[in-house]
Amino acid sequence: MKVTVVGAGAVGASCAEYIAMKNFASEVVLVDIKEGFAEGKAMDLMQTASLNGFDTKITGSTNDYSKTSGTDVAVITSGIPRKPGMTREELIGTNANIVKSVIDQLVEHSPEVIVIVVSNPMDTMTYLVHKATDLPKERIIGMGGALDSARFKYRLAEALDCPISDVDGMVIGAHSDTGMVPLTRLASRNGVPVTAFLSESELEQVEQETRVGGATLTKLLGTSAWYAPGAAVAEMVRAIAQDSKKMFPCSLLLEGEYGLNDICFGVPAIIGKNGVEQIVEIALSEDEKSKFNAAAESVRDVNSSLKF
Ligand code: LAC
Repeated sequence: MKVTVVGAGAVGASCAEYIAMKNFASEVVLVDIKEGFAEGKAMDLMQTASLNGFDTKITGSTNDYSKTSGTDVAVITSGIPRKPGMTREELIGTNANIVKSVIDQLVEHSPEVIVIVVSNPMDTMTYLVHKATDLPKERIIGMGGALDSARFKYRLAEALDCPISDVDGMVIGAHSDTGMVPLTRLASRNGVPVTAFLSESELEQVEQETRVGGATLTKLLGTSAWYAPGAAVAEMVRAIAQDSKKMFPCSLLLEGEYGLNDICFGVPAIIGKNGVEQIVEIALSEDEKSKFNAAAESVRDVNSSLKF
């Protein structure tokens, strides 16, 4: 499998590193607009290959998309990241132009590509890729829910004082500070509902810490996070490469599912060799449904500022 990662910044480089470390891809091409930057990151990563024991070949390219020809999966991480105090939505103007130019060039060289969108505001950037290309909807996937769910599990394990491997749970809805919907009702510790262990106020705190997971890190780091976003993308690429049919919440074009249309929004999906193999519709409680629908409205507001 050939993977292209556009944007060799912190998220893109982490993504390439985790993909290589998992050793399932034959090739990773890093692309960046900054002269020599992707080549440098690729060379540095390749010099870890004999130490870390991977055979994936990583190369870099300064904006030459001919090097990406025949890409099976492309990850778009390019654009500006958040600064402390900023919302993801504030990045839209700059990032929409960047994502539009990237997707045109990617598709020109790899018409069969499956695209994973990471650039923020992610749900809107995923929608933009639908509007800007003729790619079938199963080949456009927004990465947010996999990351938000990992952060949810981290916070649950912390509250439960247990290993993360004991915990399972999912976050659907928007990839935004207010629009995430952690499915606490369905989260479990080894199959036992977390509601059996934690009080309502403890669970509310877990949910709130999950929703602002990215903002908390942006404040600490001065820019947005990269390890967990990179790892979340790598797991999704692996599910495609290995046709594993793993379930992740992803931002997908909805056409009636969950009662929504003409929006990319976070819902559970089965990921395999064709990209999205199936959207999984689960019954939401009234409370979850109202939070989910309110978040969809806020994504629609952001989408309305897109120009095609
Ligand atoms: C975050 C960015 C990647 O949540 O959206 O860290």
